[in-house]
Amino acid sequence: MSYEVTIEPTGEIVEVEEGQTLLDAALRQGVWLPFACGHGTCGTCKVQVLEGEAEVGDASPFALLDMERDEGYRLACCCHPESDLVIEADVDEDPDFAGHPVQDWSATVSAITELTPTIREIRLRLDGEGMAFQAGQYINLRVPGVEGTRAFSIASAPAESGELALHVRKVEGGAATTWLHERLEEGQRLELSGPYGQFFVRKSDPKDVIFIAGGSGLSSPESMILDLLADPEDTRRITLFQGARSLAELYHRERFERLAAEHERFTYVPALSAPLDDDAWDGFVGYVHEAANAHFEGRFSEHKAYLCGPPPMIDSAITALMRGRLFERDIHMERFLTAA
Ligand code: FES
Repeated sequence: MSYEVTIEPTGEIVEVEEGQTLLDAALRQGVWLPFACGHGTCGTCKVQVLEGEAEVGDASPFALLDMERDEGYRLACCCHPESDLVIEADVDEDPDFAGHPVQDWSATVSAITELTPTIREIRLRLDGEGMAFQAGQYINLRVPGVEGTRAFSIASAPAESGELALHVRKVEGGAATTWLHERLEEGQRLELSGPYGQFFVRKSDPKDVIFIAGGSGLSSPESMILDLLADPEDTRRITLFQGARSLAELYHRERFERLAAEHERFTYVPALSAPLDDDAWDGFVGYVHEAANAHFEGRFSEHKAYLCGPPPMIDSAITALMRGRLFERDIHMERFLTAA
């Protein structure tokens, strides 16, 4: 038994199986609906039922007020249709969204590399066919013994679809990332789903691109840059600003220096905010948004910017970019996913 749900204003149609949530059905059919927590507490996935009946499910009373329930609002991540529906969701057509359907995957850990004292790269070889995804998207990883899933951006390029690279930062007190740092071994099997997310390069806009990344927030930009540079038709200029505190925390520097030497259109600017006395460093000293400001002399107009890193870095970068005359619509960001 399944129900047909028409999503306005785009007119897309999703088949929802009995027992499935509206959000799960949409993502697995390559239709994007806004969401964040995925379990009824944040309210990001609120939609309004215009025609038909849908059960509220496990929505928190704070995320969906009684009055909203009476007016036909539902949370897509919890609600189960009880008839065919027409719903209204806060979605625009995005010409750059490829709509790769979310699927479940099993994978084998093929390599583990320590990148910094707190970040390791985990490579996962997927069973079966490779995962089609857009550079910048993320997966939800199931970690043995830990409830729920954890989100990690994919750091490898979409062309390497059979093996995904993740940059995993060990979060103090975080059960999942501690397990991934202390217990995970090559050859182990893991379960995941994906791809998810709306953080990808808007290729239909030909403006030059600025990436600003901090910590393990380099993962999405790394995938996006590898993807852009692999396209011989693409001529836009790409500048990556990578921030870290000290030299030990700055990873993949050689990789980006090599890419900059190979591609005239790619510029790499690393910045250390607190280099140690014995760091052999003659590069930029300061925060990564300050490096961007210095490089572009405070003028960012006619660019697209993609930001990924801890919230204070993102906030400072947005301020700098907007002061430098970059419109909000040209700034895309992924605040650190809350993988702990
Ligand atoms: Fe948070 Fe649905 S995604 S309530």
